[in-house]
Amino acid sequence: MHVLVLGSAAGGGFPQWNCNDETTRRLRAGDPGLSPRTQSSVAVSADGRRWVLLNASPDLRQQINERRQLQPGRDDPVRSSPIAAVLLTNADVDHVAGLLTLRESHAFALYGHRRVLEVLAQNSIFNVLNQGLVARRDLAVDETVEILDRAGTPLGLWVTAFAVPGKAALWREDEKQPSFGTREGDTIGLAIQSANESETALFYIPGCAAMTGDLARRLRGAALVFFDGTLWRDDEMIAAGVGVKSGQRMGHMSVSGPDGVIAAFAGLDVRRKVLIHINNSNPLLIDSSPECAEAKRAGWEIAYDGMELTV
Ligand code: MLT
Ligand code: MN
Repeated sequence: MHVLVLGSAAGGGFPQWNCNDETTRRLRAGDPGLSPRTQSSVAVSADGRRWVLLNASPDLRQQINERRQLQPGRDDPVRSSPIAAVLLTNADVDHVAGLLTLRESHAFALYGHRRVLEVLAQNSIFNVLNQGLVARRDLAVDETVEILDRAGTPLGLWVTAFAVPGKAALWREDEKQPSFGTREGDTIGLAIQSANESETALFYIPGCAAMTGDLARRLRGAALVFFDGTLWRDDEMIAAGVGVKSGQRMGHMSVSGPDGVIAAFAGLDVRRKVLIHINNSNPLLIDSSPECAEAKRAGWEIAYDGMELTV
């Protein structure tokens, strides 16, 4: 399976348009130890020709323009795209806004949990995806389904969606309800496998509020996991004066600390671990930071735009 990181930053990207903290100033000044990052999304393909997007980032147009794999081939029809399907993990702006880029009458399959497809159905702007051309397909949790393009042709990949601890999308939060109205299915993880392999090749979990026993069991021994790397420390945005919310309030576990990602993965024996959805406040964005060194010592890679992997 071919894996291509289209974007590695959390919502807002890096630099974020209205951010002027020390890290962002260094990036804007051209410091070579920092790289710009677009908002998170990964593309996967069984044959290297037809691609499945894991989330549709607001930066999708730029991501397509930067990656020849996602552009029409020289001899392809005058209207065509290698993008055959999109899988959604939730309804966050940084995961669905790119769907608006995929208008223009291109036929593809859109997979998401029923909760997320309902959100799209309630927002008529998503009607720009002509329903005669874009098939919306329900991803039920704990069911393994073959990913098919719009016409029903198999793409050589299977997906299993599973519930992970999280929160309703920020713009859907209902202050009057417990947990802001969050229900199962609002945030899912994706396990992807090739048709000819028995084991899961890749897990994609860009948002996760906690490691549960169920999640740890699923991930144990996995070949490749992309995991929530939003914040290094739970109070990091508050401490930096760039926000008022903790990571937990936003539905993200932090990378460091006793309940953090590094600690949660210790002993899980995952062969390749990659942090993605990295917020602009996170010191992991600075190559020379002690935090970056600590994550690498624990066996983690930090996703970057254009990163290519094969599993
Ligand atoms: C998140 O990851 O928590 C969301 O993308 C936040 C947002 O919508 O800005
Ligand atoms: Mn996000």
